This record gives sequence, C-alpha cells and structure tokens, in this order.
Amino acid sequence: MQNASYAVGIDFGTTNSSVALATGDGRVELASFPFRGEETPSFRSVLYLEQLHAASSARRIHSLAGPAAIHRYLEAEEKGRLIQSLKSHLSSRSLTGTEIFGRRQKLEDLIARMIKDLRKSAEEQFGTPIHRATVGRPVRFVGADTPEDDDFAVMRLREAFMIAGFERVDFEFEPMAAAYTYEATLDHDELILIGDFGGGTSDFSLLRVGPGVRRRGRTPQDLLGNSGVGLAGDAFDARIVRKLVSPALGSNSEARSLNKLLPAVPAWIYANLERWHYLSFLRTNNVREILKSARIRALEPEKIEALIALIDEDLGFQLHQAVQQVKFELSRTHTAEFRFRDGSVDLRIPITRTDFETWITEDLRAIEQCVDGLLETTGIHPRHVDRVFLTGGSSFVPAVRRIFATRFGEERISSGNEFTSVAHGLALRAAETLHQAS
Ligand SMILES: Nc1ncnc2c1ncn2[C@@H]1O[C@H](COP(=O)(O)OP(=O)(O)OP(=O)(O)O)[C@@H](O)[C@H]1O
Ligand SMILES: [Mg+2]
Repeated sequence: MQNASYAVGIDFGTTNSSVALATGDGRVELASFPFRGEETPSFRSVLYLEQLHAASSARRIHSLAGPAAIHRYLEAEEKGRLIQSLKSHLSSRSLTGTEIFGRRQKLEDLIARMIKDLRKSAEEQFGTPIHRATVGRPVRFVGADTPEDDDFAVMRLREAFMIAGFERVDFEFEPMAAAYTYEATLDHDELILIGDFGGGTSDFSLLRVGPGVRRRGRTPQDLLGNSGVGLAGDAFDARIVRKLVSPALGSNSEARSLNKLLPAVPAWIYANLERWHYLSFLRTNNVREILKSARIRALEPEKIEALIALIDEDLGFQLHQAVQQVKFELSRTHTAEFRFRDGSVDLRIPITRTDFETWITEDLRAIEQCVDGLLETTGIHPRHVDRVFLTGGSSFVPAVRRIFATRFGEERISSGNEFTSVAHGLALRAAETLHQAS
C-alpha cells in the first residue's frame, strides 16, 4: 500500500539526478549511490543498454542506469550503447526515440528505465514505496523555442515518470526548488535571485523567501519571475571539443586534392564529436572510407590517425571525461593541461582559463541576457536584490560567477549544495504541498 504522507523530491538532471525525502521535522534525507568506492547523493543520468542473448530465441534489451551503467560499459568487451543527457531531447518533436539493436526505443521509455532504477534505489533506502513525487523542471528546456515546446517537454517527462511507476507527479521549477533550500538557512525574509547552472540548462528565479513569508503563507506576488536558457555545462564541453580537441584530431588540417589544398575531413564528422554519445554514430563504413582516404592525402596524417583510433576504439565517453576534467581544473587554476591517453590515442595540450573563457563567450552572453532580461521585465534593480544564490555544477565556472559579481558585488553572492540543492528543495516543496492538502 502506498504511504500518502511521505514527501519526495526528484531532480532528474541532464548530468546528475538526486532523490530527497523530507522527514516532516524540516529535515531532508538524500538518497545515496555508490560510485567508485564512495557514497554520493548524485546518480549520473546515464543509461547503458545491452542485448542479452537469452536461451530462448528472443533477445532481450537489458538496461543499467547511473554508476552501474558506467561500470558495465567500461568493463564490457562487446560494448552496448551508453546514452547521456537524455533530458536535453525532451523538447524535440523530431526526436521521438532512437534505434537500439534494431529496435525502436521511445525517449520516454529510455528515461523511464533510468527513473525506475532511481525510484527502486530510493525506495530501498527510505523504506517506503514511492509513487508520488515533486519533480524539477527547467524554466526553459534545451532546444525549446516556445512555451508550447516547454509544455511538450513536461508532458513527455510526466509520461516517463508514469511508465516508471509513478501515480502522481507535481512539477516545480528547478531554481525555485533551490530557493527553498536556501530559504531553510534564513532567519529573516529576503528578496533573492537564484541561478542554477547544470549540464543542460541555466535557470533563474527572482522571489521573496524567508520564515516570515512561510508563516503568513506564500502568495503569487512573492514570485517576481523566472527565466532560463537552454545551455550550460554540456555547451561548454562542446566548445572545448571544438576549439581544443578537434584541431588535435585534424579539424583544421588540410589535404592535397589535385592541385588544391582542401580540408582533410568534412566538418560534420567533428560536429559529431561535440556530443560524445554521437561518436558511436561515426562507426560506419562510410566514415571509415572517408577517413582512410583523408589519412593518405592529409598533410598531418598522424592527426587523422588519432581520429580513426578514437572512433574505432569507441572512446567517446573517455574523451569527454577528459574534457570535463580539464574544465573542472580550470575552475580552480588559471592553466591546465588537457590529457587524454587511452588505447592508441595520446593527447596532451596546454590550455588557459582565458582560452576557455574566450571560447564560451557567446554562451556567457546568452546567460547574461537571460539574467538582465529577468531584472528588466520584473523592474527590479540589482541593488534591491538582497542575495544571489548560485548552485548547480556549472556555477563553479569562475566566468559564470563573474556575471553576478559585476552586477551584485561578491559580498551578496552565496553558493553551495551544488549537486543537491534542487532535490532537497523539491522535497521541502513536496512537504509543503502535503501540509496544505491536509
Ligand atoms: N568544478 C566544476 N567546474 C566546472 N563545471 C563543473 C564542475 N563540476 C561539475 N561541473 C559541470 O556541471 C554540470 C553538472 O551539473 P549539475 O549536476 O548541477 O547538472 P544537472 O542538474 O544534471 O543538469 P540540468 O540542471 O541542466 O538538468 C556538468 O556539465 C559538469 O561538467
Ligand atoms: Mg540541475
């Protein structure tokens, strides 16, 4: 039987997911997941699909999610499909699913497989069946151009939760959830701006929170506005691939063709490197032929050789781990070295924080416009904002923080619970909703 009094929050993130339970006395418990010998509250939002050759002739598709998915993928001799950033496809009407082992898989079903694993694991830890949750959603989904696109994405996300065994799902904006987490630390009311920078999206909420607001009851006027833009950490990674990795694999290299020098390899091949899980799409005979002939004619054949090895050995996941690693380092230091050594590919390239910031200039500008637009439409001057709370993994990027430091001053910026503030706040919100209903 379902226990109706529990309050569960689920943050299904583009890169990491978390589940939280509000225990009723204001405390929140986070589900934890084993990863590389440690327990962490973040469950990597990846799905691994493999084909089981059962004794019967029917071949079954078996899936693993989160850390188990990564582990299995890395140790499998014959690789199945590792998929990540599924959330980024929700708004796309053209992407209904993908073909896996010759069978069509709906996006909602793939997401449901992940959510089901997350649910089961949380049920074991919390000791209660979970059929109802408050679930986060970005203000603006990746790729969404209109409010209808966002509605469409929410509808599909709801469907995925239903397939995963949920009976009721209440959605809440992710930055609003983070606001409730921040609010729990307050002993007075504040007008706050939340910035949540994840893997897929950057989201903002401007609202009044605090013990006084809670006591008198929230009103619609407490929320001044939300805004969002469909880019964040994944977009930064793509820039690093384009500007740093792809050139080392020949994207700027030329090849002799009759009497002319032409690009050795067509640009679309490198475009597929920018989203690492597309790399496996390059394992076709057509691409193999193109690259073989490019290697013969190229002025820098060793770069094309490295690209061929990367594709043949299916090192997309490992490559992107290295990309993220160097990005993390640049959040701490001004210079770093991109290092990738796997199979027969060995790359070492120095990089500075300034390089990185130059490459992501356009993304930073889009984020700035989103923040300024929110202040403008709500008519709030930065000096009236008491505090800015920055959260989400990409809030570690110094250039992202700088957007707020220049507008609000360092002294008004707080940050923390980068990977858990959304799930934590969703559980608090779920508890509030239950309380109001009772
Ligand atoms: N130290 C760091 N420096 C820079 N980026 C980081 C750092 N740590 C994590 N990230 C990036 O943060 C992102 C993941 O953050 P988070 O877990 O908050 O996202 P998410 O909730 O899964 O995504 P979304 O909210 O967009 O759905 C990834 O792009 C990751 O590379
Ligand atoms: Mg998030």
